[in-house]
Amino acid sequence: MTERFTGSFTQQEAIPEDAIAAALDVLRHGRLHRYNVAEGEAGETALLEQEFAAQTGARFCLAVASGGYAMATALRAVGVKPGDRVLSNAFTLAPVPGAIASVGAVPEFVGVTEGLTIDLDDLAAKLDRAKVLLLSHMRGHICDMDRLMAMCDAAQVTVIEDCAHTMGAAWRDVPSGRHGAVGCYSCQTYKHVNSGEGGLLVTDDEELAARAVMLSGSYMLFGRHKAAPSPEVFEQVKYVTPNISGRMDNLRAAILRPQLRDLDRQVARWNDRYRALEQGLRDTPGLTVIERPEEESYVGSSIQFLLLDWQDKALCDVIDRCAARGVELKWFGAPEPVAFTSRYDSWRYAPSEPMPKTDRVLAGIVDMRVPLTFSAEDCALIARIIRSEVTRAHNAA
Ligand SMILES: Cc1ncc(COP(=O)(O)O)c(C=O)c1O
Repeated sequence: MTERFTGSFTQQEAIPEDAIAAALDVLRHGRLHRYNVAEGEAGETALLEQEFAAQTGARFCLAVASGGYAMATALRAVGVKPGDRVLSNAFTLAPVPGAIASVGAVPEFVGVTEGLTIDLDDLAAKLDRAKVLLLSHMRGHICDMDRLMAMCDAAQVTVIEDCAHTMGAAWRDVPSGRHGAVGCYSCQTYKHVNSGEGGLLVTDDEELAARAVMLSGSYMLFGRHKAAPSPEVFEQVKYVTPNISGRMDNLRAAILRPQLRDLDRQVARWNDRYRALEQGLRDTPGLTVIERPEEESYVGSSIQFLLLDWQDKALCDVIDRCAARGVELKWFGAPEPVAFTSRYDSWRYAPSEPMPKTDRVLAGIVDMRVPLTFSAEDCALIARIIRSEVTRAHNAA
């Protein structure tokens, strides 16, 4: 019998009941704008910032409208100006080069390794081309952060971390987002906490934090923030930092606070599913599992594998045959972007040189979402389907 999977790859879990209750409270009192607070009330957004700062061990935190907005704000706050070059990953998703372009800067792409992390040798060769690296921990894969930070510190390159896929992850027990000058997170539906849209930014640098708060659209209400620097720090920036509104509201913050408290448990559940998939895929002929370094604590909210050096037709056959059996795989090697799978040479507003080593890896990357609505048994079934289709295509080649 041919096995089929019937679940949905885009169905996340429902918002937890305590988050719904908190949202209803906000709806009932009607004070949704973050600065619209009653006498003595902190407001959900300010509390969220305080709690996320504590959770990540950061001095300061700012909640904003999206992960993309957090990255653009971080770039502005560290002083990126129109025309500047910003180093970033060739393997990432469109909001990352998009954030660079949104401040008028120009991405300088750095290659990807077979471990799906930024190629540190390529980075070493390009470090003198920019003063800032927007490092994307794409699909949750964290590079050797010790080596990366040593290289960037020595070259005086400021690191901004895109942690859209690594909220709850760590390198050598340091939370992702806490190695560089700024960490940026997304709270969009397909990430590790879900408020539909939303973003968080953390930093230990008080001037950066003050600039980010002003940029986000705080008018002169920065005193209402609970995870921001003292008012004196704002004196230096408040008249010279433009307001580019992108605040979070109290409704989203109310939904997020209970989810963040539950993050560790959710991470463990994701990793159970990831391990079931990984185990089912291991030792499939022609398929390379991505080995995770010991120093990395990851969140298995998606899984990738490589079909390295396959002919495009055979690879497309695998994707199509898996789809026919209910398993939705995305391929980063397609010449045209499909849904979210664009690549460095798809972003035609950003100049790029051909990167043959990176192209070889991108051509082999197969990617799959792992929503928590899947059970471990679902994951074992999905792995059996992929395994049988890859084996079949491999044997036929
Ligand atoms: C790698 C990566 N970085 C950043 C973002 C930006 O997040 P948002 O959609 O909240 O702007 C995304 C969103 O998909 C992403 O995948």
